[in-house]
Parts: sequence; C-alpha cells; structure tokens
Amino acid sequence: MEQAAGIKPAVLLVDDREESLLALEAILGSLGVELVKATSGQEALKHLLEREFAVVLLDARMPGMDGFETARVMRGRERSRHIPIIFVTGFDPSSEHLARAYSSGAVDFIFKPIVPEILRSKVSVFVELMKKTELVRLQVEELKRAEERFRAVAETANDAIVSGDSAGNIIHFNKAAERIFGYAPSEVLGKPLTLLMPGRFHDGHREGLRRFLATGAGRIVGKTLELSGLRKDGSEFPTELSLAAWKAGNQYFFTAMLRDISDRKRAEQEREAMNAQLLQGQKLQAIGQLAAGIAHEINNPTGYILSNLGTVSEYFAELTRFIRTVEEGLPGVRAASEAAALLEKLRALKEAIDLDVLLKDLPAALLDCRHGAEKIRDIVKSLREFSHPDRDRPVPADLNEMVESAIRLCWNELKYKVELKKDLGELPPVVCHPQQMEQVFVNLLVNAGQAIPDKGQIAVSTRRKGDEAQVRIRDTGCGIPPENLNRLFEPFFTTKPVGKGTGLGLYLVRKIVKGHGGEVDVRSEAGAGTEFTVRLPLRGAL
Ligand SMILES: Nc1ncnc2c1ncn2[C@@H]1O[C@H](COP(=O)(O)OP(=O)(O)OP(=O)(O)O)[C@@H](O)[C@H]1O
Ligand SMILES: [Mg+2]
Repeated sequence: MEQAAGIKPAVLLVDDREESLLALEAILGSLGVELVKATSGQEALKHLLEREFAVVLLDARMPGMDGFETARVMRGRERSRHIPIIFVTGFDPSSEHLARAYSSGAVDFIFKPIVPEILRSKVSVFVELMKKTELVRLQVEELKRAEERFRAVAETANDAIVSGDSAGNIIHFNKAAERIFGYAPSEVLGKPLTLLMPGRFHDGHREGLRRFLATGAGRIVGKTLELSGLRKDGSEFPTELSLAAWKAGNQYFFTAMLRDISDRKRAEQEREAMNAQLLQGQKLQAIGQLAAGIAHEINNPTGYILSNLGTVSEYFAELTRFIRTVEEGLPGVRAASEAAALLEKLRALKEAIDLDVLLKDLPAALLDCRHGAEKIRDIVKSLREFSHPDRDRPVPADLNEMVESAIRLCWNELKYKVELKKDLGELPPVVCHPQQMEQVFVNLLVNAGQAIPDKGQIAVSTRRKGDEAQVRIRDTGCGIPPENLNRLFEPFFTTKPVGKGTGLGLYLVRKIVKGHGGEVDVRSEAGAGTEFTVRLPLRGAL
C-alpha cells in the first residue's frame, strides 16, 4: 500500500474550448491527480504517445478531428488501446451518437451540463483502478526481481541447491548441483530425490518425508548434518546438508543445500593421521627414554631366574643321587643288618646334601623363578601394548590396569628415589583408547619422577566421583612456579635441559584426555610438589 501512495496517475482532458478545460480542472483538482490538457485531437494523441493515463475525458464535438475520430485512432494504437475513454457530450443520451461513441471505444459518458460529483466519482474509479494496476505491476516486478535474485544466487552458489516437492520429486536443480552430482537438470527434474543419495539412505529419507508430511516436523529439517551424496557415475561423496521446508498454498516443498566436503574430509583425515603420528612419535620417544630402565627391569628377574635355575639344577642332581642310592641299595637288603647299613648310608648322604634345607629351598626357588618370569611377561606385555598404535575404536577397559602398566614401564626411573603410594579404588570399565590413556599416565609419572631430585613420594590414586573416573598423581617434587602454570600444556614448553625434554608430554596428555571428553587439572606449589588429576567421563564421551 505504501507503494500505491507513491503512484500519481494522470488524467487527460481534451476539449477545444479553454473554458471547458478550466471547468473540468476545477472539478477534478481535489482528486490529487495530475491533469494534462489538450485542446485538439492531435494534441491529445501526442500526449498519449508519451505517457500513460488513468482515463481520457474526451469532448465529442471538436473542430477538425472530433472526439470519435480521436478515440478511433487511440484504439488503433497499441500503446493507448487499453486507456479508458469518457466522452463529454451534450448529446441526447438516446441518440444514435451514443452507439457511435461506444463503437469508437467509449467506456462511459458524461452529459453536459456537468454534475461535479458524478464526474469526480467516475474519474476516480479509473484513477483507483490505475493505482491498483500499478501496485500489482510493481509487486510483480518486485517478485520477479526476488526470483531473479534467488536464481542468480542459486545458480552462482558453490553449494548444490536442490528443491523437491511433497511427493519427493526434484523441482529445482542449480548449476552447482549439476557440477557436483554430474547430472543435467533435464535428467533429474521430476525424478525422485533418492536418485541423489546412496541406497542405504532411501528408507530413512522416505520415512522422514512421510513423518514430516504427517506431523509438520522433521528430525533433520532446519539442521545441518553430514551425509553422503551419490553422483551420476555411481561414486559417493561426503556432503554437508542443510534442509529447509516451506509451504506454498497447502503444499510442502523442501530445499536442500549441499556442500561437497570431500576436500575438508581429506584435510581432516590428514590432520588425524598427523595427530596419530605425533602421538606415536612421542610415545616412541618416551620409550626411548625409558628403554634403559625397562631393560634393567627385565634383566633383574632374568638374573635371578638364571641363578635360581642353577641352584635348582644342583638340588636336582643331589636329589637324584639320594633316590639312586635308595633304588640301588634296596634290592640287596635281605637281613636286618643290610637294612641298617643302607639307612646309615642314606643318613650320611642326607646330611651331606643338606636334604631338609634343600626340600625347603627348592619350592621357594621355583616360586621365585615363576614370579620373575611373570614380571618379565608383564613388562613385555606393557611395552608391547604401549608401543602399538591405538585401535581406531575405543573399548571398555580397566583404568587401574593401565595405571599399573604405566608404573611398570616407569618403575626403574622411580624405584631408587621414590616411595610409591598406590591407592587404586574400584572403577567401572571406562570406554577409551587404552594405549593413549597409558601414554597419559606414563607422561605424568615420568614428569613426577623427574620433578623429584633426590628422594620423595609419589601418590597414585584412582576414584569414581559421580559420573567421572579420576586418576590423581601427586608428587613431593620441586613444584611449578605460578608463571609457568598456564604454559604447561603448550606444545614444546619445557624447563628441562636440551635432550632431556621436548615439552610435548603434557601437551599430548591434555589433547588425549580432551579427546576422551575429559579434563586435566593441575595444582602446584613451588617447592611443595604438584598434583595432576585426570578426569574422564564414565558415560557417552566417545
Ligand atoms: N610433576 C611436575 N612437577 C614439576 N614440574 C612439572 C611437572 N610436570 C611438568 N612440569 C613442568 O612442565 C614442563 C612441561 O612438561 P612436559 O611433560 O610437557 O614436557 P617435558 O617433561 O619438559 O618434556 P617431555 O616432552 O619429554 O615430556 C616441564 O618441563 C616442567 O617444567
Ligand atoms: Mg614430560
């Protein structure tokens, strides 16, 4: 309506007499329209060539070209054919002139003497009509421009824009869609949208469409999600899709914007691969640091297993001697005197080989061997698991076991100077990447050990706190000055001498824990020690 207010229609007044024109002007002046005057048919036709009029008031009787002739020429011209004509005439309404006037294109008559109200009301009908027509024309133009804008945006967009109707058929397919899917519009218009998606999505799509049409609500309408698209050549590509629904009349339509995110996915995969490499690299570096200690941890039991086995072989030889003596002596015993002699021999032998001690020592030596072998087995297992790259999928696993395994790997670094206090509480299985979590505990334990210059304590505890599993590693080491506290987790931040630390340890600790949906907290007081707490959600983090 606002636009209608801006439209000022014009009315053409044609009369050969100046005083008649003035009279018309006086009557119509209050209508707020532009009044254009002409004193002859020719002049009127000239105006009509130049512009649009809401209505022409035409004097029927004029010298030269009269009103009827003027109307005829007007009607003959494309530009003025549609403009309504009101004849102003003094004729008797019933005369034959009326018929002539209608046949030359009049839509109405005004009879002289003119009644101002009648003239005004007749003219204003046409003025309003023109205003309305003009308004509609402007609206149509606006709509066209909007449509053109939409088309321009849709056609030049990098994203595929595909619209469908409520039957699930494609009704619009932009240039980018052609490029991304490899179809020409003629190949897809009117075809089902399922043409553009891999078979495994078809049922879900149909079900979603059905549900939306039934309830007016859809799970994916108005959202952005990652799906797969299907190209004409049958290949799939990852796509990010946002879906909008709109209603025209009482029909629903859908517009999907799809972006081919193959490049982004590739970049993501590369980044993930680099991350995995970094984790693995740091792990191997840590193993490198720990290798000498681990070797020592394996050597130690190996040493006493070997020495115990030496003792066991000696014991075995002596036992064999004792049994053989019995075996060989027994068949010759027929009389009491022979039995006494054999017994004496055995008693001497028992003494010589220290049989009582031997029988007590032997099981103990074997048990030691067993323990040593188990220790070696566990270290090797920890080492093997630790150095393996993690599986892609997280699995439910026992955090306490990971803590134990990490302690085994670091033990040689710690055992000479550290008193270790272990307080492992009961924990439900935590869904995680076990090797990564073990890397976290190894890094924290090694740091704790390195923070203790001489002698100190490390307390490791695990607890369940509500929906979290918490692992706390506290040391009585040198502590961290406040200015370093918020730099600890930066990559390459280290206070250790070149060659001793790379500064990646805590960076990866936090990255891994955050990747599990958890947090790492640190509290420290310079000189008094440091406490790291790893918090992992027990449910639904991965
Ligand atoms: N328990 C701790 N007590 C005192 N300082 C610590 C402790 N843990 C970490 N820090 C400080 O944080 C710094 C960063 O630790 P981070 O584990 O990231 O690297 P790093 O131990 O120096 O090297 P690496 O990459 O070999 O682990 C350390 O250099 C040290 O200054
Ligand atoms: Mg470290």
